Amino acid sequence: MEPALRAEGLTKAFGRLLAVNGVSLLVPQGSVHAVIGPNGAGKSTLFALLSGALRPDRGRVWLFGREATRLPPEARVRLGLSRTFQVSQVFPGLTVRENLWIALEARRGLSPFPWLRARDRVWLEERLEELLERLNLKEKADRLVGELAHGDQRVVEIGLALSLGAKLLLLDEPTAGMSDEETWRTVELLRTLREEEKLTLLFVEHDMEVVFGLAERITVMHLGEVLAEGTPEVIAADERVQQAYLGEVVPGYEGA
Ligand SMILES: Nc1ncnc2c1ncn2[C@@H]1O[C@H](COP(=O)(O)OP(=O)(O)O)[C@@H](O)[C@H]1O
Ligand SMILES: [Mg+2]
Repeated sequence: MEPALRAEGLTKAFGRLLAVNGVSLLVPQGSVHAVIGPNGAGKSTLFALLSGALRPDRGRVWLFGREATRLPPEARVRLGLSRTFQVSQVFPGLTVRENLWIALEARRGLSPFPWLRARDRVWLEERLEELLERLNLKEKADRLVGELAHGDQRVVEIGLALSLGAKLLLLDEPTAGMSDEETWRTVELLRTLREEEKLTLLFVEHDMEVVFGLAERITVMHLGEVLAEGTPEVIAADERVQQAYLGEVVPGYEGA
């Protein structure tokens, strides 16, 4: 099986600053991979290169086996990639149900033949109910998204990505600004989606409890480069990683 994502030698400079310097990454389908590193390490820039928001100076990107290095963001979405949480993608003035409906319809489309539209509507309605169930949003389906709690709005964003057919989610700090309770609901949701929807997850996260609770592999970036890559056990034991965080301990992780 082709990996969901492969990057080789990605490099991006801003003036004289090498924000991302020769970064390679391999993310198999169905896996959960975290990118961590101190502020300014180049994590967000790396995600921009992967999503197509920025073009690399050097290096290449493949999505599900197809080369995507020169593809714009929309074309990468069609290959199954979705980037959530950077810019809010939800329509705050519409209900949860309406938001998801728009995304589902954008993907599937209603038939141009009126006598087939009823069938399409039934399909869309069934899929919508399934999604509301899966996202735990059934009770909030008719609330305006703009009036929901921050955590729920982010869940709606994940729902939009799923509706649009995402197979690989890039999440830049998915739990930023969330309460503890919202954080753990989001972690649970991501775990469920990964299992039930066979999603591949690549995420940047500062909360080490989330990182070590969710990721199967971790890439550590420092000054634009990959400092270490491996399982949570290997990363937690890596001295260079500890040093990059200037001796910060990795909280919530008790070792193998
Ligand atoms: N658009 C930009 N123009 C100039 N410098 C940038 C730009 N975006 C990021 N940088 C710089 O690149 C480095 C990496 O930033 P970033 O990718 O945001 O790191 P991280 O997400 O790991 O905190 C930082 O030194 C940052 O100041
Ligand atoms: Mg960042």
